[in-house]
Amino acid sequence: MTTRKKPNNLWVSRWGFILAATGSAVGLGNIWKFPYMTGEYGGGAFVLVYLVCILAIGIPIMMVEIGYGRRGRGSPIDAIRRVVKESGRSSGWSVLGWMAMLCGFMILSFYVVVAGWSVSYLWKAISGGLNADSVDGMAAIFGANNASPLNLGFWSTLVTVTTMLIVGKGVQDGIERNVRWMMPGMVIMLAIMIVYAMFSGGFGQALDFLFGFELGKLSSAGLLAAMGHAFFTLSLASGAILTYGSYLPDESSIARTTFTVAICDTLVALMAGLAIFPVIFANGMDPASGPGLIFMSLPLAFQQMPFGTLLEIIFFVMLTMAALTSAISMIEATVAWLNESKGISRTKAAWGTGIVLWIVSTLAMLSFNVGADWTLAGKTFFDWLDYLTSRWMMPLGGLGMALLAGFVLRNEVFKAELGLNNTHYALWLFMIRYVSPLGIVLIFIDALGIMTL
Ligand code: PHE
Ligand code: NA
Repeated sequence: MTTRKKPNNLWVSRWGFILAATGSAVGLGNIWKFPYMTGEYGGGAFVLVYLVCILAIGIPIMMVEIGYGRRGRGSPIDAIRRVVKESGRSSGWSVLGWMAMLCGFMILSFYVVVAGWSVSYLWKAISGGLNADSVDGMAAIFGANNASPLNLGFWSTLVTVTTMLIVGKGVQDGIERNVRWMMPGMVIMLAIMIVYAMFSGGFGQALDFLFGFELGKLSSAGLLAAMGHAFFTLSLASGAILTYGSYLPDESSIARTTFTVAICDTLVALMAGLAIFPVIFANGMDPASGPGLIFMSLPLAFQQMPFGTLLEIIFFVMLTMAALTSAISMIEATVAWLNESKGISRTKAAWGTGIVLWIVSTLAMLSFNVGADWTLAGKTFFDWLDYLTSRWMMPLGGLGMALLAGFVLRNEVFKAELGLNNTHYALWLFMIRYVSPLGIVLIFIDALGIMTL
C-alpha cells in the first residue's frame, strides 16, 4: 500500500464536482455544434448513434479520466506519472498528460472566438443590431461582425480575460463559486426557451426530427462525426475532467458522478435541440444550415415572433454562460500544473497562460478576416485547431488512456479507485479494453480517408 498524495484542492460542496464538470461538459458543443450537426446529418439517426457513442466510448473513458485525476491527485502530467509509478511502469506515459494539457489549450484558442460571437450577439440583441428580414441579411450581419479584426478581437479578448480572471481566483473561489450560480441559471433559461418553443407551432415537427430514428438516413460520415463529438461534448482527453477529478473527495463514487455528468450533458444537448428546432421549423427554415444555424437562422426566426428580442437575449446569455463554464475547465490543467509543479501562484499562472492564449487565439480570430487566406491544405488556422484536436488529439489521448488503464496498469489500481462490484468492473474493463478503443480506431480510419482525398 503506497501512501496516497493529499489533494491539492477539494471542491467545497458535494455538488462542487458535479456542477463544475457539468459546466465543463455543457457548452458550445451542446448548444451550437450538436443542433447544427444533427441538422446536417439528418436528425434522429445521428442522435441515436451519438447516444450509443456516449454510452460505449464517452462514459467508460470519463471514468478512466476521473480515476487518473483522483488516484494521482494532480494535473494531467503529474497525476498520470504518479499512477504509472504506482504500477511500476514507465513515466514516459505521462506524455498523455502533456498531450491532454496542450489539447485543452488549443481548444480554448478557437473556443474563445466562438464564445466571442456569442457575447457580440448578446450585445447586438440588446442594442437592436440584429435586424434583418432575410437569411441573406442575417448572413451580412454575421459577415460584418467578423470582418473587422478590432471588433472580433475585442469580443474574444473579453472572453479570454474573463476566463483567466475566474481561473486565477482558484478552484473554490473562482471555478466553484461561479459554476454554482451559472449552471442553475442556464437550466432555468433553457427551460423558458423550451416552454416558448412549445407554443411556437413547430414543436411536433422538431420532436419528429430529433427522435424519428430513420436509420436509412445514417451516413458513415454522420456515424464518425457522432463519435468525435462524443469526446468533445464530454470534455474528454483535454485535461479538463482529469484535473477536476483530482479535486474529487475520496468518498464520492466515480461511476455515479460520471453518469450524472454524462446524462446532464446529453439532456442539455437534446433540450437545446427542443429549444431551437421548433422555432426554426415554425418559420419554415432549413435545419441543415450549418455552423451559422444559431447565429443566422435562429435570430431571424426570433425576429418574426412575439417577444423575439427578449428570447434572443435569454438565448445568448445562456450560450455565453455555457461557453464560460467550459472555457475555465480547458485551461485549469495548465494553471494547476504551473501552480502545483512549478510553484507559480495561481494568479501569476493565470495571467502568464492568458497572454500566450491571447496571442494564439488572436491568430485564430484572424482566420475570419485578414488571415482568411492563410491556409494550409485548404484549412485556416482556426480550422486546424478544431481539426487537430477533435480528429486526432482527443481520440488518440482517449485511446492511450484507455489502453494504459486496461492493459498496462495493475488491475487493483482502477478496481480500487472506481469502487465497482465485480460484475460492473468486468463490464467496465471490457468496454475500456475493446469496445471504446475499437470505436476510436474507426475515427482514425475516417480521418485518414479524408487525408488521402
Ligand atoms: N464539452 C465542451 C462543449 O461541449 C467543450 C470542451 C472540450 C470543454 C474540451 C472542455 C474541454 O462545449
Ligand atoms: Na458538451
